[in-house]
Amino acid sequence: MSLFHRGNKNQSNATINNGAQLIAAVHPKSPISEQFRTLRTNINFMAIDNPIKTLALTSANVSEGKSTVTDNLAVVWAQTGQKVLLVDADLRRSILHRTFDLDNREGLTTILTSHARTIDLNKIIQPSGIENLSVLPSGPTPPNPAELLGSQRMKDFLKAAKERYDMVIVDVPPMLEVTDTQVISHYLDAVVLVVKQGQTQKLGAKRAVELLKLAHANLLGYVMNDVPSDGSAGYGYGYGYGYGYGNDGDDK
Ligand SMILES: Nc1ncnc2c1ncn2[C@@H]1O[C@H](COP(=O)(O)OP(=O)(O)OP(=O)(O)O)[C@@H](O)[C@H]1O
Ligand SMILES: [Mg+2]
Repeated sequence: MSLFHRGNKNQSNATINNGAQLIAAVHPKSPISEQFRTLRTNINFMAIDNPIKTLALTSANVSEGKSTVTDNLAVVWAQTGQKVLLVDADLRRSILHRTFDLDNREGLTTILTSHARTIDLNKIIQPSGIENLSVLPSGPTPPNPAELLGSQRMKDFLKAAKERYDMVIVDVPPMLEVTDTQVISHYLDAVVLVVKQGQTQKLGAKRAVELLKLAHANLLGYVMNDVPSDGSAGYGYGYGYGYGYGNDGDDK
């Protein structure tokens, strides 16, 4: 499916500095928010046989809109009344604490590096300010993100989070930059690929799909971000729907 277009390209550090824009929270009635609700509905449709309780959106490269889509999807999910946990597992370019203006001295890395026997989510998870939405920031950047994310402790954390929340949505790094997403993707119930219109190269997207397959990830499909609308003013948006990305005959 396709998501909104705002015109401004190549702002790769804007979210790093200021956090992602929570359009779904600020303008819940806008067509863009409606697009996020459609994405939520489509994911739910695919979850009929195998419930999806942990989900990440990734992309081939940096700055293709992963965090923006992830955060807004979490907001619309929480708006249904389900208890949602948004986790920042992009340990190299973490932004969740900026988006929600939270302290990042403790977070996911605190849990992953702790030697405590049990995982106490209460102490570290923070309210987002949005009803039903809790947030776990990344915590301090570790020297070994891939190792931490691929650890048994990460698996245990996701299990504990699933028990407490209806839905756990994870912000992750891009596929082609680092192995982090590959290592956690098979711990997750589902992964969706974000493809940025006019930016993501076809080869890059294909490689990302290959890597997800190698990791035995459950790739649901892709979201086309930043699709120009046909003439509507301001935030235009387009709609299309892609399911089973990579099934075009020449993928592995
Ligand atoms: N549809 C869109 N239209 C215009 N700008 C967008 C759109 N989607 C995202 N952006 C902008 O692109 C920049 C990158 O977005 P975002 O941080 O969500 O991407 P990312 O893939 O998470 O990046 P990173 O790889 O750094 O984690 C931000 O400035 C964001 O506001
Ligand atoms: Mg991001």
